[in-house]
Amino acid sequence: MNYNEVKALLSEYGQEHLLKYYNELNDSEKESLLAQIESIDFSILKALKPENNALTDKGTISPINAVNFSDIEANGDKYLQCGLSALKDGKVAAVLLAGGQGTRLGFDKPKGMFNIGVTRELYIFQCLVNNLMKIVEQCGRWIPFVIMTSEINNKDTVNFFKEHDYFGYNSEYISFFIQDAAPSVNFTGKIYMESKSKISSSPNGNGGWFSSLVRSGIFDKLKSQGVEWLNVFAVDNVLQKIADPTFIGAVISSGSESGSKVVSKVSPEEMVGVMCLEDDKPSIVEYYELTEKMRYQTLENNELAYKYGVILNYLFKMDTLVEINKTKMPVHIVEKKIPFMDENGNFIKPDKPNGYKFETLILDMIHMNKSCLPYEVVRNKEFAPVKNSTGNDSVDSARKLLEENGVSL
Ligand code: UTP
Repeated sequence: MNYNEVKALLSEYGQEHLLKYYNELNDSEKESLLAQIESIDFSILKALKPENNALTDKGTISPINAVNFSDIEANGDKYLQCGLSALKDGKVAAVLLAGGQGTRLGFDKPKGMFNIGVTRELYIFQCLVNNLMKIVEQCGRWIPFVIMTSEINNKDTVNFFKEHDYFGYNSEYISFFIQDAAPSVNFTGKIYMESKSKISSSPNGNGGWFSSLVRSGIFDKLKSQGVEWLNVFAVDNVLQKIADPTFIGAVISSGSESGSKVVSKVSPEEMVGVMCLEDDKPSIVEYYELTEKMRYQTLENNELAYKYGVILNYLFKMDTLVEINKTKMPVHIVEKKIPFMDENGNFIKPDKPNGYKFETLILDMIHMNKSCLPYEVVRNKEFAPVKNSTGNDSVDSARKLLEENGVSL
């Protein structure tokens, strides 16, 4: 697009201020600014209108059953054989979502570069590779391992893996892709700028993983290699089983299009999304969207009606993802502190939220599948998220759980 076309586009969305300094820029800055504006998906700004708010349009919610421990005990061997045979046939790839900014941890590098070791170096990325290696050894072949980063942390992440020789993984089976970004806006919906030639933007949420994977070309490559299922997981759970054959086997043998590992919540207030049925289809309600009634509702056996918390470890069928990708995902608006350039051209780092970021969430994909199998795992064996530096879900709690599970720190 040339300058006039970009200007017309901006006036359609009331964002003409983005070109305020255009005439002060050199040629390459001008070109870069126009390209940034052209790449913006302005339709997400619609999410700012209350009637389009993703949080308000939930259907009728009811409790869901999970494959629980007794079922897994009874059918574990069958599931294991089914999952192992899918892995041995090269039908499963692992996808690590590592594009987040990890603001709660307060670590200035990608979260996976955090050293969770105490007397030795043991990085979060290394823990995840170690966990995946166990399955590689069990199934006797390398599993394609795909890592999503963001513009902000891609270089550090890729270099870190290289410097550490991929922590012993076969680099021929590792690929990286960068997730898309979305612009940040002030409370009146005007897009912020970081400098005279740079639009303020941030990773577009973990729901952006699939469209970015497709755009990167990696999806087609995996398909051509015969991969049919993607096990997608978060960077911060250092205990999780990745490409877990029993989970994979349970999902495949159930005939479900997807599966989600879940844990029983420790308390009604625990900050995890919960699985439920929405209009009789599987769905996930984020912890901050739970109504008081849902949070505390109990069943006849006194258990929480919505007790299955998700741990961001999903199995998706690739063919279904292609269908899902044809529909737009709900956009969530998150209040954040957004560094910006003020009207005098000064760069400001705010100390309280000053605007919104736009994010799509992977948990919304569950409701877009026709079926999803909730699969319960033992939380002390598979759930040690590193969200904060101390307290709940922290470096401290994860270290304790790693040690409990025999990982020397
Ligand atoms: P979180 O919701 O914990 O977000 O991400 P975060 O950005 O890592 O951390 P905070 O909230 O700022 O402290 C859950 C998973 O989704 C990934 C994260 O890397 C993590 O694995 N994620 C999140 C992305 O890959 N991209 C995003 O845009 C957001």
